[in-house]
Amino acid sequence: MTTATLAGLILGLLLAQVAAVMLHGYFRRRSDLHGLDGERRTATQIDATPGPAWEGFRAFTVTRREYEDKDRSICSFYLKPLDGKPLPAFRPGQFLTFRLSLPNPVSGEARNVVRCYSLSEAPRPDHYRISIKRVEAPPQQPELPPGLSSNFFHNAVQQGSRLQVRAPAGHFHLLEEEGLPIVLIGGGIGITPMLSMLGHILEQGLKQEVWLFYGVRNGKEQIMKEFLQTLAREHANFHLHVCYSAPAMDDVELVDYQHHGRVDIPLLQTSLKSRRHQFYVCGPRPMMETLVPGLEEWGVDPADIHYEAFGPATLIRHDKPATAAVAVQPITVTFSRSGKCLAWDPAADSLLAFAEANGIEVESGCRAGSCGCCQTVVSAGEVEYTKQTDADVEPGHCLLCTAVPKNDLTLDA
Ligand SMILES: Cc1cc2nc3c(=O)[nH]c(=O)nc-3n(C[C@H](O)[C@H](O)[C@H](O)COP(=O)(O)OP(=O)(O)OC[C@H]3O[C@@H](n4cnc5c(N)ncnc54)[C@H](O)[C@@H]3O)c2cc1C
Ligand code: FES
Repeated sequence: MTTATLAGLILGLLLAQVAAVMLHGYFRRRSDLHGLDGERRTATQIDATPGPAWEGFRAFTVTRREYEDKDRSICSFYLKPLDGKPLPAFRPGQFLTFRLSLPNPVSGEARNVVRCYSLSEAPRPDHYRISIKRVEAPPQQPELPPGLSSNFFHNAVQQGSRLQVRAPAGHFHLLEEEGLPIVLIGGGIGITPMLSMLGHILEQGLKQEVWLFYGVRNGKEQIMKEFLQTLAREHANFHLHVCYSAPAMDDVELVDYQHHGRVDIPLLQTSLKSRRHQFYVCGPRPMMETLVPGLEEWGVDPADIHYEAFGPATLIRHDKPATAAVAVQPITVTFSRSGKCLAWDPAADSLLAFAEANGIEVESGCRAGSCGCCQTVVSAGEVEYTKQTDADVEPGHCLLCTAVPKNDLTLDA
């Protein structure tokens, strides 16, 4: 190789390197401008598979709060992580778990209260949103204290408040790989996971037909009314069906709402024509107890019916395994730390309810298999679950709130 060839080669390499650096800079700026990079991604570009979640609780601050209904009974809270780092994506439909330190309404002593709240918005890279309904004392027992966590959020959580939050979790979420049209059914505050799913579908520009059946008492309790109506006007593939069970005097049918009554199977049959849809259901117990079996009776493939209960009040009892209800052999449950050995009551809903009924103090939060709070070591014996659990259970442990004993059991409680 001559000196001239060598010099030419070196010059060529140098020029190629300069060109590569310039191209890299160009594409980086371009992706920044178009939001393709890290924190600047737009919602539609967020991969819906969960990113690296965090372990345990992470500190968040409330950046904004906003009432979402005329009655001011539902309030949204916008949360940003205190560490300022990006948030992992979540699957629309998932929830966050909160640990609050609250005074006991009776004794005044501080204690940890754990509650779950669904994410109520499509994934965003920099914040989460939850929407919480204030829970009053049951009408027939007004002497009871109102809901601890929901009232704390409504009364005390303001912009700047700090909260301890577990990473998004839950098996009830949109299955994106499915090509079937989607039916979202939300009753009352059970609308929150549907808002996240709906937002995600429309922001992604998916062409699938999507139906939202939203059951609520009347216009005063309806969440994000104008927002939902605007989405329905702007997206031809989105069909909004709002059902008022007890319309107020000023609620106008076909203006404020589409149907007088509850969301039921005849309404779904008339509106959808075909049962070949993916159904997502979340609502109060009577709704779940009629709709979920009703869909199956209509002939919907059970694999296409996805549902979530927001707590023990909405658990579907027929999930309970028949073996537990008709146990032939009496079962003994030993709570080793409390030193109690008790005959299992087959009428008890769960080991948690059974423990509490016998004066054994155990930690609990959601009481629905979601938060993991009631996880307890099983020293001997086996349990079975009365419903699908969301919390990950460590080997050798069980979730007391959703488990019943299969045979004689020893628990470290
Ligand atoms: C996966 C999941 C997602 C959820 N998502 C949402 C959501 O997006 N938005 C939302 O608003 N909620 C949601 N929830 C429900 C939420 O977690 C709480 O259950 C709800 O806010 C009520 O909690 P609380 O602490 O306010 O009420 P609690 O303190 O648990 O009280 C509940 C009720 O029991 C009554 N009570 C009090 N003491 C007694 C007693 N001694 N005997 C009998 N009754 C009594 C109270 O008056 C109240 O009516 C979700 C739950 C789960 C599991
Ligand atoms: S109390 Fe939440 S998982 Fe049992």
